[in-house]
Amino acid sequence: MTSEATRQDAATGSSATHDRLPGTETAGSGQIGPTGRPLPDFATPPPLDRHGPARVIAMCNQKGGVGKTTTTINLGAALAEYGRKVLLVDFDPQGALSVGLGIPTHQLDVTIYNLLVERGHDLRDVIQKTRVENLDVVPANIDLSAAEVQLVGEVAREQILARVLRPVLDDYDVVLIDCQPSLGLLTVNALTAAHGVVIPLECEFFAMRGVALLIETIDKITDRLNPALSLDGILATMFDGRTLHSREVVRSVVDHFQDKVFHTVISRTIKFPDATLAAEPITSYASTHSGAEAYRQLARELISRGGAP
Ligand SMILES: Nc1ncnc2c1ncn2[C@@H]1O[C@H](COP(=O)(O)OP(=O)(O)O)[C@@H](O)[C@H]1O
Ligand SMILES: [Mg+2]
Repeated sequence: MTSEATRQDAATGSSATHDRLPGTETAGSGQIGPTGRPLPDFATPPPLDRHGPARVIAMCNQKGGVGKTTTTINLGAALAEYGRKVLLVDFDPQGALSVGLGIPTHQLDVTIYNLLVERGHDLRDVIQKTRVENLDVVPANIDLSAAEVQLVGEVAREQILARVLRPVLDDYDVVLIDCQPSLGLLTVNALTAAHGVVIPLECEFFAMRGVALLIETIDKITDRLNPALSLDGILATMFDGRTLHSREVVRSVVDHFQDKVFHTVISRTIKFPDATLAAEPITSYASTHSGAEAYRQLARELISRGGAP
């Protein structure tokens, strides 16, 4: 037990057995996972005998630094390891997804921006392969920051990304859209193009602040633009099982969102920023690390829930 945990436990009068790491406790026959619920066994998905049409998932939270980009890259890479053909869409002008996969974004002539605002481009010319088999990416750079303003006057301005992606949906099993940290028109486009939303939540105080607004936005889009949209799940990220604080955040998220919370929890580890610096998914950068295993489990859990083929 860390001294911090001891102090916090004393302060709250908690008598829980915090000296055991989550995931190591057992209840009856099953393991209790870090979300405090029995951890199901997510079977290795069988290979697909045919590919497409893709299920499109938006990685969304208007808060920055919660693990959207990290989850897009590593969930995508894990799904690709399971033989799924995956397309990642960088939909943040920061271009962190593209950079995190080794793409020199400032040298790009054509990006997702051009596909959105100009006619006559072929999406297939913009898609780049990554070093990971089955994992492709549509890159973005700072040009995308102008799109929000430029698209405002367009006809069916919320449906532009859906139209851009349509020609390649049959080539992929999963498309993951890495949203920018806002609920502006770009994010509305992502939610309109998507079948599902995954919300990463950092295990920090105030993690849930803003989530009500995000859910309200998702509900509005379901009502008005995309009736097929569903909340695929809420993912707790940057979890530190040694602190009472992290565990309490997860507990309150589960109290609130129940089954919508993934059993898989992503722990805080320096390996993620390290992998980003190396411009690789953690599944190849540190293949046997627990962080790589966590994203593989998330991929299996998503597939077992029907969130991916
Ligand atoms: N599980 C984690 N443990 C430690 N650092 C993480 C983890 N997930 C993400 N990070 C780091 O936190 C920062 C923000 O993550 P990122 O995925 O870019 O968030 P977002 O896309 O929501 O802004 C990055 O530097 C990333 O490397
Ligand atoms: Mg990001």
